[in-house]
Amino acid sequence: MITLHEEITVQRTLKDCFRYVADFRTVAEWDATALDAKKCTPGPIGLGSRFIVHCAVGPTKVRLAYEIVEYSPWASIVLVGKSRFFEVRDVISFTETESQTHISYTAEFSYRWGLSNFEHQLESGMRAMGSESLRGLKDALDNSASAPGLSDCTARADRWVAPGVAMFSKWGYRRSISQRQPNSHFLDGRHVVLTGANSGLGLATGIALAEAGADLTLVIRNPEKREELLQTLKSETGRSDITIEIADLSLMADVRALSERLLAKGTPIDVLINNAGALFNDYRVTREGLEQSFALLLASPSLLTHTLRPLLTGHSTPARVINVVSGGMYTEKLVCERLIMTPSNYHGAQAYARAKRALTVLSELWAQQWRTDGIIVNAMHPGWADTPGVASALPTFRSITKRILRTADEGADTIIWLARASEAGAISGKLFLDREPRTPYLLAKTRESTAQRAQLEAFISAQIDAASMA
Ligand SMILES: NC(=O)c1ccc[n+]([C@@H]2O[C@H](COP(=O)([O-])OP(=O)(O)OC[C@H]3O[C@@H](n4cnc5c(N)ncnc54)[C@H](OP(=O)(O)O)[C@@H]3O)[C@@H](O)[C@H]2O)c1
Repeated sequence: MITLHEEITVQRTLKDCFRYVADFRTVAEWDATALDAKKCTPGPIGLGSRFIVHCAVGPTKVRLAYEIVEYSPWASIVLVGKSRFFEVRDVISFTETESQTHISYTAEFSYRWGLSNFEHQLESGMRAMGSESLRGLKDALDNSASAPGLSDCTARADRWVAPGVAMFSKWGYRRSISQRQPNSHFLDGRHVVLTGANSGLGLATGIALAEAGADLTLVIRNPEKREELLQTLKSETGRSDITIEIADLSLMADVRALSERLLAKGTPIDVLINNAGALFNDYRVTREGLEQSFALLLASPSLLTHTLRPLLTGHSTPARVINVVSGGMYTEKLVCERLIMTPSNYHGAQAYARAKRALTVLSELWAQQWRTDGIIVNAMHPGWADTPGVASALPTFRSITKRILRTADEGADTIIWLARASEAGAISGKLFLDREPRTPYLLAKTRESTAQRAQLEAFISAQIDAASMA
C-alpha cells in the first residue's frame, strides 16, 4: 500500500471547501491526473453519491468508479475509488481557522494483479502527483483565476471557417476542457432569473445554478410543467425553495407583466439569463401582430432586460446579463429591415439566425451603454447540443450530427460559467463559446454597418410599441 498525505490552508470558508470537494466532479479541475469526472447517481451530493473519473496514468487512461462512503458535513468525507489496477481510499478532513480552512488529505492506494511488487518504483511519482494535486486544489479554492482571453489555437481556427464551425461539436467542448481554470465560486444569496428553464440548456443551467446555491427565479411558458420542474429540481439538487414564474415570452404583454411582478417583489437581480428560444420552421404571427421568431428571440429579451434594469443596477458587484445566441448567426449580417420576414420570404433558420445576430449586437451595445451602471452583458452560443428544441425543429440535422452533438450539460457549460465564475465578472460585451471570447464574425461579409448598429434599438422598440397598440 502507498499512503500519500498532504495538507493545505486556503482563504475560503469551511462550507465552501467542503461543498467544492464533496462534489467530486470538481476533481477534474484540480487533480493532476484526472481528465474528466461525472456524477452517476441522481440527487444531491451525499453518502452513496458515485462518480466516474478518468485519469491519465502514464500512457494509459484509467477509469475509476468512486463512491462517497462517509459524509460528515462540514467536517470530513471519505471516498473509495476502484479501478482495474488499484483501489484508493481518500480521507479528506476540514477545519476552520479564523478566516481560513485547513484541509488534510490522505490517499491510500492498494494495488491489484501483483502491481504491489512495483510499489517502490511507483512511490516517488505518486508522491509528486499527490503534491501537485493538492496545489491544484489550493489554487481552485483560492479562486484566483484570471479573465480568459482568446487562445492562439482558437484564433487560428476562427480564421478558417471550417475549424471554427467544427468547434461547435462535442469535440470543441472536449478540446476546451484541458484549458479550463477551476470554478469554485458559489452563488449563495445571488438572485438569478433564467428563462426557458424547463428544457434542454435551460434545465441543465437551472440544475447547476441550484447546486451552486443561487436563489432562482425560473421562467417557463406552460403552467402544467411547473410541478414536474419543481420535482426534477428537488430530486436532482435537494432544493425546494425555487420560484417559478409563468410567461409566454413571445407576447410582449406577458413580458411586461412578468417584469412588473418581479419589480413589485423588488428583489435585486444578480444574473439575468435570456435563454428561452425556438427555431420556428413555419411562419406565424403572434396575436400581438409580431412575427414569432422576431418576437421570442429578439423583442422579448430586449424588452425583458430593459424593463428589469432597475433590479440590475446599483449592486456592490456588477449584475450580469447573459444572452443565449446561436452559431447560426454567423451566416447572417445585421440589417434591421430584414429582421421582420414576411410569409412570402420566410425561412425559419434564416429568421432565427438574423434574430440571434441582432441579439449578439444588442449585447455589445448594452455592454457599452451600461458599463457605468455596473451591469455587464455577454452573449454566448452553446455549439450544437442535443436538446428537445433541436430534436423538434431540426430532426434531419440531428440525425446527421447525432454522434457529434454535445449533451445539454456541455452546451450549458458556458452559460453556467458566465453566471458563476468570478473571472467572468471582469468581462463585458463579448461573445463566448466554451468559456473563451470568440469572434462574432467568421465571415467578413456579415459585418454590419455602423448605421445599422445605431438603428437597432430604435427599430426593435418601434416594433414592440406597434405590438403593444395592436
Ligand atoms: N441546442 C442547441 O444546439 C442550440 C444551439 C444554439 C442556440 N441554442 C439556443 O439555446 C436556447 C435554449 O434552447 P434549447 O436547445 O435548450 O431548446 P429547448 O430544449 O427547446 O428549450 C427552449 C426553452 O425555451 C422555452 N420557450 C420556447 N418558447 C417560449 C415562449 N414563447 N415563452 C417562454 N418560453 C419559451 C421552452 O419552453 P417549452 O418547453 O414550454 O417550449 C424551453 O424551456 C435557445 O435560445 C436556443 O436558440 C441552442
